[in-house]
Amino acid sequence: MTIAPGLAAPTDTRRLFAAPGPGLRDHLDTFGPLASYVDLPDLVERAGLVGRGGAGFPSARKLRGVAAKGHGVVVGNASEGEPVSDKDRTLLLAAPQLVIDGLVLTARAVGARRAYLTTARPEIVEHLREQVGLRAESLRIEVVQVEDRFVSGEESALVNALNGRPGLPSDRSVRVYERGVHRRPTLVHNVETLAHVALLARFGPHWFRSVGTDDEPGTFLSTVSGAVPAPGVFEVPFGTSLGSLLAAAGCSPHDAQAVLVGGYHGAWVPGRAVAGTRMSKSSLVTHGASVGAGVVAVLGRDRCGLVESAAVATYLAEQVAGQCGPCVNGLPRMADALTRLARRERDPRLVDDVHRMRQLVVGRGACAHPDGTARFVASTMRVFADEVAVHLGGGCGVHAAR
Ligand SMILES: Cc1cc2nc3c(=O)[nH]c(=O)nc-3n(C[C@H](O)[C@H](O)[C@H](O)COP(=O)(O)O)c2cc1C
Ligand code: SF4
Repeated sequence: MTIAPGLAAPTDTRRLFAAPGPGLRDHLDTFGPLASYVDLPDLVERAGLVGRGGAGFPSARKLRGVAAKGHGVVVGNASEGEPVSDKDRTLLLAAPQLVIDGLVLTARAVGARRAYLTTARPEIVEHLREQVGLRAESLRIEVVQVEDRFVSGEESALVNALNGRPGLPSDRSVRVYERGVHRRPTLVHNVETLAHVALLARFGPHWFRSVGTDDEPGTFLSTVSGAVPAPGVFEVPFGTSLGSLLAAAGCSPHDAQAVLVGGYHGAWVPGRAVAGTRMSKSSLVTHGASVGAGVVAVLGRDRCGLVESAAVATYLAEQVAGQCGPCVNGLPRMADALTRLARRERDPRLVDDVHRMRQLVVGRGACAHPDGTARFVASTMRVFADEVAVHLGGGCGVHAAR
């Protein structure tokens, strides 16, 4: 079904990136106007769209949940607190009008009169305000700059920031889809999710499903960085091989010691497994990873996986809101034990310490930050197990022994 007759739907893997750049006129020439009425939850459900903000939650369920309560608020989340992700910023520079379309469509679906677009990148705030200013919508869209920290984009943290409180996650007992911004039911979607909504509302679920896998249809944006000659943001279908994503960034799988998939809350895929791994749930689950927000970071052969991972764990331990036990006590101790392993302290109890701490923190925080950090550390201990043994003997497989 083509909802915008007469215009060619983007066919290959350049869907979001088929956008002509910022500006309303070129956007309308390329994609056509929005239909005045679409049954959005139905379209989104048939398309099988899942959120691109990290958790991969089915978008139709969230839309229906907020719509059922009525008079909602919509938030486009481009906070992108993940240090190795650049896809939201890139999307907002390349296709801001698609994101705004997504805000307009979802606002109509949940009966919202107000929407927010949040970013932690000061350099794009004015650009976004200009792009919003080009639209003559009855929907009031406000661009809000949030703090640049890892947890700022967590949805309850965003709601707190928009309510004028510190932008930190809060208790999970009240969900934002029940009571969020101005105490109204709030739909938080990643901006990439919103841009996909804009396209599938025009070109339909059949078109949307024409690439990707049955379970995970469509394309996603992947930020490929680290030890690659040409880092960048690439749009690819779900199910794409990890090797071809690396190739897009000019990197051969042989040059990768390991690849971090899914970001700092994700997991390592060992270099030897890259060739057989696809960017899909079923393939990545073997490594405890998921596509998440599309982060792919390559560890070169000249870097120590333990040293790099300890730095990530330390960063994550410093990003906490200091509100919950696992973050106050568990994450710093886990990061400290991993750091001492990375420094080649010859104390075998450090391995137990890391595992004990990571088991203790899971499921205990108000938000998923401790769980995500524990997942990353578990993967580090698995993938770099040989390196752990070498470090306990005072050596390092990569750097010269001291
Ligand atoms: C610690 C933490 C940080 C998060 N940061 C972001 C973020 O920067 N951007 C984002 O879109 N979602 C982020 N999320 C996920 C959001 O809470 C929320 O699930 C998401 O914005 C929903 O959008 P989606 O359904 O389109 O994926 C984060 C979650 C956690 C636990
Ligand atoms: S679990 Fe950690 S990051 Fe999440 S709210 Fe509690 S202290 Fe903050």
